[in-house]
Amino acid sequence: MNKLTDCLTKKKSSCIPIWFMRQAGRYLPEFQQIRKKNPNFINLCLNSNLSSEITMQPIKRYDLDAAIIFSDILMVPYALKQKVSFIKDEGPILSSFNIENFLETNEKDFTNKLNPIYDSIKKTRKDLNDNKSLISFVGSPWTLIVYMLGLKKEKNILDLEILNSKKKEIKIILEKINYFLTSHIQNQINAGADVVQLFDSWAGLIPKKDLNDYCYKPNLKIVNFCKEKKIPVICFPKGLNENYLEFLKIVNPDGLNIDFNIDPHWARKHLDNVTIQGGMDPKILLQGNEKIFEEAEKYIKIFKGSPYIFNLGHGLLPQTNPDRVKELVNFIRNYE
Ligand code: CP3
Repeated sequence: MNKLTDCLTKKKSSCIPIWFMRQAGRYLPEFQQIRKKNPNFINLCLNSNLSSEITMQPIKRYDLDAAIIFSDILMVPYALKQKVSFIKDEGPILSSFNIENFLETNEKDFTNKLNPIYDSIKKTRKDLNDNKSLISFVGSPWTLIVYMLGLKKEKNILDLEILNSKKKEIKIILEKINYFLTSHIQNQINAGADVVQLFDSWAGLIPKKDLNDYCYKPNLKIVNFCKEKKIPVICFPKGLNENYLEFLKIVNPDGLNIDFNIDPHWARKHLDNVTIQGGMDPKILLQGNEKIFEEAEKYIKIFKGSPYIFNLGHGLLPQTNPDRVKELVNFIRNYE
């Protein structure tokens, strides 16, 4: 029995699988220890033994129902020959996009660069109990393009001038990137992952008139690939607000991760025939247990009787106390 895949594909609602976005990472002291000795983040993602060890850290702490492989959505631009670096407190920096480099990348070069991730998945699958899922992931095309072309002017604001001047590049990237993303998904599945999550973290920045071309269609292509290959797939089109409904109608994945701006009552009523995942605001975990349990109970009650995966409305924040996460997991497991 596998709780996560049963909840996604058999629409089982009798138990609630639990995992957290960004469960392996910055808020864990055991991660910080490894990170301190490994200043280059990309190299850390390409170190199969360490990446597998980091993937297992939250499983050891909390006995979660799924591990998510320690890697990053920006490993794809890296494998498409863009330089990617992570500056402390500033986030990722990518070298300027070179269309020739992009177009001349072939599948073999691409796969060779990402092979250590597949080795890490193989290793992790061996260490992980059979009843637990191993989640692989990719960034959705639009979210990758936001980083690849530097489309944001501040943390959360799209630069419309740049967007309008890069329409041609966007079209070319959208046409070709699907090929690499599906290949990366297939390689992760072949290595032992059993679920895919698509992160469209910047879907909420897309102008309404472009939603079809930049969000729905590219996510649909990948979801259809996963369905053909019988791989359960969860989508996270963060920030879409009421357009979550249109997204679901068009893209129709097995699972839909709601963000913390989505009213869970609205979701329960309108987002039908899909396994809902997440929703609770990760900032709640910075408060005391009473508030944390109250919010968790709210989500559990609202989604009772329908397939629901406990997770958050975005990733765990770096300042999260790991003990709060432990207590939250215990609370959900002991609930009724
Ligand atoms: O535990 C897990 O979820 C697995 C590992 C994982 C990471 N990034 C590790 C990471 C996953 C699934 C991601 C996805 C990711 N990466 C997303 C989609 C989810 C989301 O948060 O919206 C995005 C947009 C990125 C791009 C990215 N990577 C950013 C913006 C940053 C810098 C700021 C930040 O959030 O940490 C990263 C770096 C990164 N990816 C770190 C980790 C643990 C921190 C690296 C460090 O130690 O400096």
